[in-house]
Amino acid sequence: MRNLASIFRIIALPAIAWGGVELLFETEPGQWAVLEYPKTLIFIGLIFLIAVAVEVSVAALRFTLLRSLSEEKQEKFLASEHKLGEQLKAKLEKLPELLTRSKPVEEEDEIELDHNYDGIRELDNKLPPWWLYSFYASIVFAFIYMARYHIFDGETQVEEFKAEVAQAEIDIARYKETAKDLVTVETVSLMAEPSDLEAGKQIFMNNCVACHKMDAGGGIGPNLTDEYWILGGGIKNVYRTLLEGGRPGKGMVSWKNDFEPSELQQVASYVLSLQGTMPAEPKEPEGEVWTEETTE
Ligand code: HEC
Repeated sequence: MRNLASIFRIIALPAIAWGGVELLFETEPGQWAVLEYPKTLIFIGLIFLIAVAVEVSVAALRFTLLRSLSEEKQEKFLASEHKLGEQLKAKLEKLPELLTRSKPVEEEDEIELDHNYDGIRELDNKLPPWWLYSFYASIVFAFIYMARYHIFDGETQVEEFKAEVAQAEIDIARYKETAKDLVTVETVSLMAEPSDLEAGKQIFMNNCVACHKMDAGGGIGPNLTDEYWILGGGIKNVYRTLLEGGRPGKGMVSWKNDFEPSELQQVASYVLSLQGTMPAEPKEPEGEVWTEETTE
């Protein structure tokens, strides 16, 4: 019994410390704070060591104390310890009664009322204290609630909802900024950063010149520097062409398995940066003139 209680305390204390760490340190949902902040493990480990140390010292003290006593006093000491345990047990056993204050079955006739409805009789039990005090607490809560939300200007559910949605939109925008590969045909935008255009150029030189020529003047594939487009100009259409390829059998394949969306965005931007340049041997225009107003 003694040892069991000690072991329980040694486990419970670090467990409480752990719970505290999880509560106090903010993490993404589903993540453990102890894993994200490994230093907290040292803290929990310390609590564990202290708990062990305290339990061991108390046990050692008790042992030396017992040894120093005469045999008669030893027995007395043990008996008093035993008594303490018994008292604790008796208190625990009384707990349900304290919570409900109900009369045991044997004494029920003391609280039986006179009514007798076709053999159904009624007991006048005391209200269970747990129930009664919860009821009082709910009354207090109701007053606080009414004051906060109906007298003073507490946030309504609609306002709370709107605030959360606004915050979520900010979070999403921030996430999209970092997650570059989330670009789609609908959201793709023209890149202007020299580093992005340089990266796009590299991809173009390594993959596209065989058909479109070094200066994009056109070969097997069309001239990419003029304003005539078969599949549509502008960043969205060019991006879609790279993503899905050209018309079947023409030779322009889909590049979506070779490059990340952000890389395709770079090449598309590079290709469009060549608009109006003068290739050495431009291929004659194919398709139609494309301007931003032309849809698709
Ligand atoms: C195997 C040859 C070949 C390769 C390699 C190739 N293309 Fe093409 N490309 C073509 C052909 C052919 C077309 C015309 C498609 C059609 O008519 O549907 C085309 C069309 C295009 C268009 C649309 C032009 C328009 O007028 O609408 C773009 C943009 C383009 N290619 C960019 C690229 C880029 C960027 C690469 C490298 C990642 C590339 N191509 C690699 C052959 C190729």
